[in-house]
Amino acid sequence: MDDLAKKFEEIYRPGSREIALLKQLDPGLLPKHVAVIMDGNGRWAGSRMLPRVAGHKAGVEAVRATVETCARLRIPALTLYAFSAENWKRPESEVTTLMGLLREYLQKELSTLVEHDVRFAAIGHIDDLPTAVVEELRHAEMATKGKGSMSLTVALSYSGRQELVDAVNRILEEGIRAPISEATIRDRLYTAGLPDPDLMIRTSGEMRVSNFLLWQIAYSEIYVTDVLWPDFRAVDFLKALVDYQSRERRFGGVPAMETG
Ligand code: FPP
Repeated sequence: MDDLAKKFEEIYRPGSREIALLKQLDPGLLPKHVAVIMDGNGRWAGSRMLPRVAGHKAGVEAVRATVETCARLRIPALTLYAFSAENWKRPESEVTTLMGLLREYLQKELSTLVEHDVRFAAIGHIDDLPTAVVEELRHAEMATKGKGSMSLTVALSYSGRQELVDAVNRILEEGIRAPISEATIRDRLYTAGLPDPDLMIRTSGEMRVSNFLLWQIAYSEIYVTDVLWPDFRAVDFLKALVDYQSRERRFGGVPAMETG
């Protein structure tokens, strides 16, 4: 199981926590899709007597680190919950800062995403966002279209219930008649084409799903860490992966040893 640790020798110090965790990972059993609820930016800022937006600014570094770690590990899909449909209720100045950070991230990181063959997509009610942000998102989607190593999806103005309502409306608009199948719904979700997340990570300790990917997480393993999002780094992601690999995924069946 040392393959991954060897591959990362030039990135992490020998004897580092990252290398110790990589040694515990089975490269053949990594998740195909990881979804992340990035929470705790406000608390991170509050604990430093800083305004909430400082937490969001610091959170961008955690986004960068997480995308990089996923790409290095060749995890094919990462979906980040960046702005929920409910987040519009936040003060206007906070919303404006978040939108600005998103644009800035795309402007700065697009060339790296292209270089590393990452396909970018935004899901949610994107047209609710300011025009300049929508344009930046569409530009990033176009520039990375057809890229294949990894898919990076950012959920914005996103609601899992709304996603299901939108899917049902599409089914009706297409004139599809009852009885419908699971595949009919699945193929009309914003995430159509992506595998369901094997692992969903939530930072900052809350044990909630918060209207994120409600259909898709039916069988996801959920990992909650107390680490606040701005502090989340490769070592925390690797801990989540080690924990994930210690779980036995049964998908409603019985343990493998009891089937024989
Ligand atoms: C939750 O923390 C975090 C958010 C609502 C925003 C996440 C956005 C970013 C990290 C920056 C931009 C994103 C990308 C993809 C570049 P909170 O404010 O709810 O924290 P709290 O629960 O401690 O108040």
